[in-house]
Amino acid sequence: MTRVLSGVQPTGDMHLGGYLGAFRHWATDQHDHDAFYVIVDLHALTLDHDPAELRQRTLDVAIMLLASGLDPDVCTLFVQSQVPQHTQLTWLLECTATFGELRRMTQFKEKGGGQESVRVGLLTYPVLQAADILLYDADRVPVGDDQRQHLELTRVLANRFNHRYGPTFTVPEAAIPPVGARVMDLQEPTRKMSKSVESPQGTIYVVDDPADIERKVKRAVTDSGTDVVYDPAAKPGVSNLLELLGAATERSPQEAAQGYSSYGPLKADVAAALIELLRPVQKRHAELAADPGAVEAILDLGSAKAELVASATAARASDAIGLLPRRGS
Ligand code: TYM
Repeated sequence: MTRVLSGVQPTGDMHLGGYLGAFRHWATDQHDHDAFYVIVDLHALTLDHDPAELRQRTLDVAIMLLASGLDPDVCTLFVQSQVPQHTQLTWLLECTATFGELRRMTQFKEKGGGQESVRVGLLTYPVLQAADILLYDADRVPVGDDQRQHLELTRVLANRFNHRYGPTFTVPEAAIPPVGARVMDLQEPTRKMSKSVESPQGTIYVVDDPADIERKVKRAVTDSGTDVVYDPAAKPGVSNLLELLGAATERSPQEAAQGYSSYGPLKADVAAALIELLRPVQKRHAELAADPGAVEAILDLGSAKAELVASATAARASDAIGLLPRRGS
């Protein structure tokens, strides 16, 4: 069975972009693959954070992922910091990566803004992500389009390590969905929907109630003219709505565009489709949130299962690179 692994940062509330681009595919993938899903709390330390809030958000993301359909009897859901091999392997990979290749990463350039005071962790962030993936010998990594470059770096590092020190890691492939891989902000449709925005008006959260969803879709920025056509370059606003309608109703955006001659009915149908899509997730979310202790128990078990796999890979990599093992361990 192929192995899949993917991760999410516990920063901000879960939004429709992450749900359509990643999490709902995690729920289907778990049935056909040996699936590992990790909440990457160490990655969340690369920007300012509040410690108590980080702990709470880690639990919140777990609740949200379970509500999105992850079944802990079928997949392994765990917390990155609870499996120490992630930081251990990161060092070996940091000594494989170069400063030049990390400095060129788009997310580092965007978030670091060229400042001297930028945290080193923000620079080495993609190496920690590579460790997340390589520790589990993942064949496929289901992610949204914004993770493409990080996946490419992971492949480069895996190949380089294998070439220098002998076959050690599986070289993974990114699995990017054909529809919904790049959900854009409803107020600024040339920017991806993201957790880190000033105004929540352009972001639909998975727990938004139907009235909020309707209001946000109704106020979504559209383009000049009235034609409903899928053309992301010329009509980013309408194309994003068609992408959402397509993703929610399992059609291509071009198919979703059929039959509309103005924006009003399109917006009404987008809102209705999103409300329907999120209704069961919201129901499960309310049930799970009522018993956070049970969710922590799921994570305890998941992290223990993950560590069994991670420790074998970390030992293999340490051995390949020439570290002397402690005897009797
Ligand atoms: P993160 O936490 O920003 O996002 C989690 C997942 O959601 C996808 N996503 C989107 N997809 C479509 N449209 C959007 N607007 C949108 N916004 C987010 C992301 O592509 C991602 O799949 N670096 C990663 C976390 C990570 C990881 C890993 C992922 C750490 N280690 C190992 C895969 C494997 C991140 O910040 O994702």
